[in-house]
Amino acid sequence: MSDSEQEKGAAIKQGAGIAVDRLTTAEAKAELSRLAAEIGAANRAYHAEDAPEISDAAYDALKQRNAAIEARFPELKRADSPSGQVGAAPSDGFGKVRHAVRMLSLENAFDETDVAEFDQRIRRFLGLSDDAPLAYTAEPKIDGLSLSLRYENGALVQAATRGDGEVGENVTANALTIADIPQTLAGAPEILEVRGEVYMSHADFAALNARQEVTGGKTFANPRNAAAGSLRQLDAGITRARPLRFFAYAWGELSEPLSTTQHGAIARLAGLGFQTNPLTDRLDGVEGLLRHYKDVEARRAALGYDIDGVVYKVDDLRLQERLGFRSTTPRWAIAHKFPAELAWTVLEAIDIQVGRTGALSPVARLRPVTVGGVVVSNATLHNEDYIAGRDSTGGPIREGRDIRVGDWVQVYRAGDVIPKIKDVDLSRRPADAEPYVFPGVCPECGSAALREPGDAVRRCAGGLICPAQAVEKLKHFVSRGAFDIEGLGAKQIEMFFADDLLPIREPADIFTLAARDGANLAKLANRDGFGEKSTSKLFEAIEERREIPLARLLFALGIRHLGEAGASIIASHYGTWPAFEAAMTAARIGEGPEWDDLVGIDGVGAVMASSLITTMQQEAERASIDRLVAQLEVQESRRVVAEGSPVAGKTIVFTGTLEKMSRAEAKARAEALGAKVAGSVSAKTDLVVAGPGAGSKAKKATDLGIETIDEDGWLALIGGA
Ligand code: IVH
Repeated sequence: MSDSEQEKGAAIKQGAGIAVDRLTTAEAKAELSRLAAEIGAANRAYHAEDAPEISDAAYDALKQRNAAIEARFPELKRADSPSGQVGAAPSDGFGKVRHAVRMLSLENAFDETDVAEFDQRIRRFLGLSDDAPLAYTAEPKIDGLSLSLRYENGALVQAATRGDGEVGENVTANALTIADIPQTLAGAPEILEVRGEVYMSHADFAALNARQEVTGGKTFANPRNAAAGSLRQLDAGITRARPLRFFAYAWGELSEPLSTTQHGAIARLAGLGFQTNPLTDRLDGVEGLLRHYKDVEARRAALGYDIDGVVYKVDDLRLQERLGFRSTTPRWAIAHKFPAELAWTVLEAIDIQVGRTGALSPVARLRPVTVGGVVVSNATLHNEDYIAGRDSTGGPIREGRDIRVGDWVQVYRAGDVIPKIKDVDLSRRPADAEPYVFPGVCPECGSAALREPGDAVRRCAGGLICPAQAVEKLKHFVSRGAFDIEGLGAKQIEMFFADDLLPIREPADIFTLAARDGANLAKLANRDGFGEKSTSKLFEAIEERREIPLARLLFALGIRHLGEAGASIIASHYGTWPAFEAAMTAARIGEGPEWDDLVGIDGVGAVMASSLITTMQQEAERASIDRLVAQLEVQESRRVVAEGSPVAGKTIVFTGTLEKMSRAEAKARAEALGAKVAGSVSAKTDLVVAGPGAGSKAKKATDLGIETIDEDGWLALIGGA
């Protein structure tokens, strides 16, 4: 290396450490050249030679720095810039991005009562009276896909899709092509994550589909699908050619607050150069919200882009902070949805599908019909009572009209959910239509299909011997919120389940696949859709998941009545698999200390508790779970504990009246500080907070010698925390 080259090398190395906003033009140019070379080499190593030289994270860091420098010096962007290149993403598809602040979803309100209850819940939580002023910001709910944009020192350094809320896809190169997304900001906080919705206008959507038809490309069912398909292009050049737009309405990590109110924060984002929705308004109380909703609904058709409701957010950001979050949604916001669209069509057949818990679900096969821009040919019919025109208590639904094959039925879609049947037109019923007879045996395995008293659903009694149940359990096991194994989706599960040489019949089999295949990849690599490369990729993806958080494992088991939120509550209560397993093994339904402990967890009712115990004590089921767990390293579930919190890990019981905050807020606060809040006092209780009127619980605490303090003592204990 010559002296001057050495000097240049040193200058570039220095450049690499310099914050992007302090780079001189010369340093930026030199660094872009180095980055193009390094990223190019990494791409070749990864894609052409299949021998990655650097980690995904290091690769992402290079790409991000490149994007940030390009954002600040657009004129220096090289012809061979790596930002828009095909195949530039690590692993198959996009790189992964862990969100600094989780991207949550919203609870829905479907009518005025739901909205009034939302307002009531908030008032109760905050201890506000019914007539105390409480302002909300209302914004249209844009029907697109959410995107998080990270700016550092005013430069866009990363764009990520929501993904599962914790980890999304790195779509920085694509976001840089969207005109509504500023690449640099003046006067922004040092760290600013702006969140909002990517969408496509009706006119642009129609023009895109027309172009696609001419060129023989893929056409899209609706603007949202078109927006999603256009953003998630590995070739950012394609995204550039698609007319995407962006509205900002929220934020993630911030180095300093944007404002003290939601409305102010939106205005600040607008001031920084983001598009914000003009139908955003600040309103008082429920009446104001409902008036605004009607106004937005009346303008909906003329907007030129899809919205599917109005989002209400508590305006005061301090109150938002006090209200906090449930497991997947904020307490301070709700989406008031527009009524679903309806269409009439013919019911051509009723099929029965068997789910992972054995439930027999009737599915309507429909003459295809367009509902709200999407062609619908299947809909759920819920259960046998629904078809017969009865509700769960035996009362009439649809005034008792039953549904028969051959009928004209009314179909609707509400949001993303599976289409449903709302009504039937008896005047058009064919003369020979017969009442539907629900099967009494499982159509998949022939076992009896039984209905327990009080259960609306008929279930196959075949358990693990029913192939449909086993396959559905496996599909659930590999799904998104569960093990989420790349390259092992529903299609592959069906293939492996039917395979004789290398079958996957239960979850544990996934983790013995590589060992059973042997090192030569021979058995797998010879079948449809699997080459040596994809086989070893699949094995890698499986290996990656051997280490799994407890909450994901619990959810993946597909236990009835245990959803994602329930799994996460159970995981943080028991902490480890052995603790959970021991408790479930010892527990008896309806009695004893393990039962009391389980149903004492907030969010766990008797139904979920019984289902957990039954599953964990059912011999065959348990043996299958044990085989699985033997293959795994289950990670301990750690709650996010505020540093130095005096109550972290403690079990606290609140009793009596609290005067300075509602019980709900006290509980949420304690949990945020890492404490467990229990409903009843036991030997495991560390602390009782007793307000006026505390009765038997306070007495029990005294008897057990458990520390008891009053509300002021509690506030002093947690202090400014
Ligand atoms: S706020 C923590 N505001 O709706 C709150 N979301 O159903 C995060 N959406 O994932 C969301 N318009 O993709 C918010 N004005 C708006 C919105 C909005 C559309 C989407 C967003 C979110 C989904 C939840």
